[in-house]
Formats: sequence, structure tokens, C-alpha cells
Amino acid sequence: MLIELLRTRRSVRQFQDKPVEKEKIDLLIESMLRSPSSRGLNPWEFVVVSDPKLLAGLARAKPHGASFIKNAPLAIVVCADPDRGDVWIEDCSIAAIIVHLAATDLGLGSCWVQMRLREFDDRTTSEQYVKKLLGLADTMVVEAIVPIGYGKEDKPGHSQSSLLYDKVSYDQYGWKG
Ligand SMILES: Cc1cc2nc3c(=O)[nH]c(=O)nc-3n(C[C@H](O)[C@H](O)[C@H](O)COP(=O)(O)O)c2cc1C
Repeated sequence: MLIELLRTRRSVRQFQDKPVEKEKIDLLIESMLRSPSSRGLNPWEFVVVSDPKLLAGLARAKPHGASFIKNAPLAIVVCADPDRGDVWIEDCSIAAIIVHLAATDLGLGSCWVQMRLREFDDRTTSEQYVKKLLGLADTMVVEAIVPIGYGKEDKPGHSQSSLLYDKVSYDQYGWKG
């Protein structure tokens, strides 16, 4: 049941020194490629990174919230050709969350690392930096990186009592059931 997976899902930022098996990488790739996209245009592209030097490079893509990528054995860079779909942000987001959930389902930890709208330094965006590092065309966009590995953390899922049910209205905004 998906709800059971969602009840245990957390972002994992610490990884064991253990590679992800090829069979699991193949399943992660299959999961992403099964993502729905607007008009079925599939504007996304994925770069599957396992070279430790490149992982260390990706970890430097922004000053905060990315450094732990260097300790992951694997990272999926979610990018797109924006000319191939006007809602590529939504399409990429769906693919990124699907790979995060698929990783959880395979007993792996992962975490979304935001790239779009982030800065490498005063003169270079995180996207520009990643595009240069991975040889992406200038016209491509990079939305996020999802580092994946066997987690070292044992975080519990969010408790039922912590869920923000007051964010939900019924029929009219502000009407509470
Ligand atoms: C759009 C988005 C961007 C995020 N960017 C980062 C990031 O750059 N670095 C990071 O460590 N976590 C990032 N996260 C993970 C969130 O911090 C995390 O989902 C949130 O704190 C809730 O924790 P949980 O996923 O364990 O429930 C991002 C999550 C989303 C959905």
C-alpha cells in the first residue's frame, strides 16, 4: 500500500559506505521513466551519477544543503529541455518525487536537493555549475539532484498527530469538516 510507504518516508542525508546494486538502479530508472508528464511530452532527462569525483563536484553546487551528496554512492540529476514542455517544472518535480518514493520502497534513503533558483556563487547559478560539470547543453535546465544510498539514519515517519489537517478545507476555503 502506498499509504504505508508514505507513513515511513523521510528525507535521508547520511549514507552508508555501500553501493546501490545495479538491479536497484535499473528499477529507479524505470520508476522515473514511468512518471506522468503534461501531454505525455516527457521533457525531462536524467543523469545517473556514481563517479565519486562527480558526486563530490555536485556537492559543491550550492553553499548550503548539498554537501551531503559527496557521501552518497549515487545521485540522479533531474534536468529538462524546456523547449519540449511548457510545464517542465511540474514534470521534473513529479519525476523527482517518484524516484524519492521508489528509493524508499527499495529500502534506500534519498533527499531532494534543490538546484533551480539557487546560486553557486555571486556570478554563477547552481544550474550553470551543474551543466558545466556534467556536460549538459546550455539550453537545458537543472531542477534538482536526488542523492540515493543505503541510509545511516533511522528517522521515524511523521506522526499522525503532526499532520497539518487545518490546511484542508471542504467545498469552500476555510470550511472545516
Ligand atoms: C522542493 C524541495 C526542495 C528541497 N531542497 C532541499 C535541499 O536543497 N537540501 C536538503 O537538504 N533538503 C531539501 N529538501 C528536503 C526537505 O528539507 C525535507 O523534505 C523537509 O525538511 C521535510 O522532511 P522530510 O522529507 O524528512 O519529511 C527539499 C525538499 C523539497 C520538496
